[in-house]
Amino acid sequence: MSMKPIVAIDGPAAAGKGTLARRLAATLHLPYLDTGLLYRAVGRRVLETGGDPSDAVSAESAARALEPADLDRNDLRGPQADAAAASVASITGVRAALLDFQRDFAVRDGAVLDGRDIGTVIFPNAPAKLFVTASLAERARRRWLELRAKGMEADIATVEADMRQRDAKDAARAAAPLKAAADACLLDTSEMDAEAAFQAALAFIRTRIDLI
Ligand code: DC
Repeated sequence: MSMKPIVAIDGPAAAGKGTLARRLAATLHLPYLDTGLLYRAVGRRVLETGGDPSDAVSAESAARALEPADLDRNDLRGPQADAAAASVASITGVRAALLDFQRDFAVRDGAVLDGRDIGTVIFPNAPAKLFVTASLAERARRRWLELRAKGMEADIATVEADMRQRDAKDAARAAAPLKAAADACLLDTSEMDAEAAFQAALAFIRTRIDLI
């Protein structure tokens, strides 16, 4: 097949995209990019300069200045980073500034990328697209377990409320709202463990990409 093997994985927060994408990339010997980190790093850059992440001018200039090393920062997780990322992600100029970074990443060897608009905007011609989702209650439970495992005290109802709010923001924004591409395989992981999700995703990808 002449087309680079690009696997696009989209879906809401805590649906299991990251775990799945990382394992698929390792199995398929493809580079992996967690595109949420780009928005998180832009949000952090704005906060660092005392700016407001919902201000288009500050956010766009932070997106233009983004460097690959920013993705290795250790302050890209947590409620403040979540909120800043969701704000910058709704700004059209930020999304435009990050477009080439994502396309360039996959240009040479192909890639597995996870995010919200990989199959709809970044790589609309990707041969394999998955839309990974799970119920809000299940996603909140997973995020809560993750926080607890990191030793962070969290109230599950608050985690669910924050997630509901962030989902609404991602789906309602005018710029690249979260939605499944028409040709994406829908994978609801509410009742699946990571292994079952991986096997289902791999079986689908094999129908779309010639794997050796
Ligand atoms: O997947 P995540 O939680 O790390 O994403 C952080 C924020 O960035 C979230 O509000 C969704 C947004 N995002 C986006 O708009 N487009 C992407 N491709 C990836 C993330």
